[in-house]
Amino acid sequence: MSTTVDQAGRSLADPKTYLDEERLHAALSLLRRESPVHLVEAPDYNPFWAITRHADIMEIERDHALWINEPRPLLAAAEFDRLQEEQRAMGMALSTLIHMDDPHHRVVRAIGADWFRPKAMRALQPRIDELAHRYVDRLAELGGECDFVQQVAVHYPLYVILSLLGLPESDFPRMLKLTQELFGGQDEELQRGTTAEEQMAALFDFFNYFNAVTAARRAEPTDDLASAIANARVDGEYLSDVDVASYYVIIATAGHDTTSSTISGGLHALIEHPDQLTRLKENPDLLPLATDEMIRWVTPVKEFMRTATRDTQVGGVPIAKGESVLLSYPSANRDEDIFDDPFRFDIGRDPNRHLAFGFGVHYCLGAALARMEIRSLYTALLPRLESIELAGTPEWTATTFVGGLKHLPIRYTLT
Ligand code: HEM
Repeated sequence: MSTTVDQAGRSLADPKTYLDEERLHAALSLLRRESPVHLVEAPDYNPFWAITRHADIMEIERDHALWINEPRPLLAAAEFDRLQEEQRAMGMALSTLIHMDDPHHRVVRAIGADWFRPKAMRALQPRIDELAHRYVDRLAELGGECDFVQQVAVHYPLYVILSLLGLPESDFPRMLKLTQELFGGQDEELQRGTTAEEQMAALFDFFNYFNAVTAARRAEPTDDLASAIANARVDGEYLSDVDVASYYVIIATAGHDTTSSTISGGLHALIEHPDQLTRLKENPDLLPLATDEMIRWVTPVKEFMRTATRDTQVGGVPIAKGESVLLSYPSANRDEDIFDDPFRFDIGRDPNRHLAFGFGVHYCLGAALARMEIRSLYTALLPRLESIELAGTPEWTATTFVGGLKHLPIRYTLT
């Protein structure tokens, strides 16, 4: 039986769809072709419009006065939307950059922005290279067979981010668990519990941990990003506790699963396309292009949402004030109108106008850092990699938000 556009639309609200890339892309291709601005009414979810074409997503992201992030920055079950609304009313809701709009967003984003500019990135390069080498050594120690996701990829980006924030290494395992509980919230293996309350509890643990960090950095400022956030002042006042904790949360979480998913998904793509692996090993100067192709290929952020501030239209379809649109980045990154042969993994793809980092005022703050981390790891790995193959069946995370491979069993020889 063939899938209808309504079924395809509803499948975007089902975390299990993202376990099967073929099924996901079949649904997205159908929507792009037949109903690129599609109203989705899925059980347990408030209605939303699925936007699947690259051009429409860019147009929406460009106009951040018409399309705002609050009150619904990402897809969640109606029960979770309701809980968020209650917490907002109490002033206790998570308020990260992705929950904010101008003018507040611009001011708060500026606090961290310097830490992610090229100059700061260059200063960080030696530390990242050192970590990349540490993890390739680890791969060698594991003796030729491992689960690349769980034993290597999830650790390295978290170490980078937590080093940038200035948190002690002894806290890293706890942070790893909490970020997985937060971002893997829809995956049975990773989640803390099944109810919205249990998942909110993971969020509160995060808040408590970072409130203690804030107090310590205000008492004794240090030269790290955590201190810059804790001691930032807007109109002469510190950020509120919720705003400070939210800042840490977005940096620690956004910088982690995204990059680790890209590193693992990139390795999987190289295993599946051995001609591209050989080409990259023989032409290491293609690595910057290969990095962006891995990011396009994996697209670890599956969606963000925007809400219309007035009646408008997208691609000729009327959308009323207060209605929300889901921006499907995996779909934009396979759009036939933008990419030549979009389902071909091509490490030399140029140009590569992917939207994996979004677009406009919310464009990923950590894009330069993510690219650097991926490049450093492959710079350390590729010259030592003599052979690699799958040693089992890869598994993906069930999530409608951020994710990718959860297990990647590999067999390899390193020099
Ligand atoms: C925002 C993707 C790595 C920090 C975003 C957005 C996307 C994204 C799609 C939303 C953009 C929009 O709404 O237009 C990715 C991908 C990554 C990655 C694919 C890795 C391959 C990182 C890293 C950090 C980071 C390493 C570093 C801490 C952020 C922050 C925001 C953000 C703070 C919010 C920006 C804002 O709303 O102003 N990212 N990200 N991301 N990302 Fe990343």
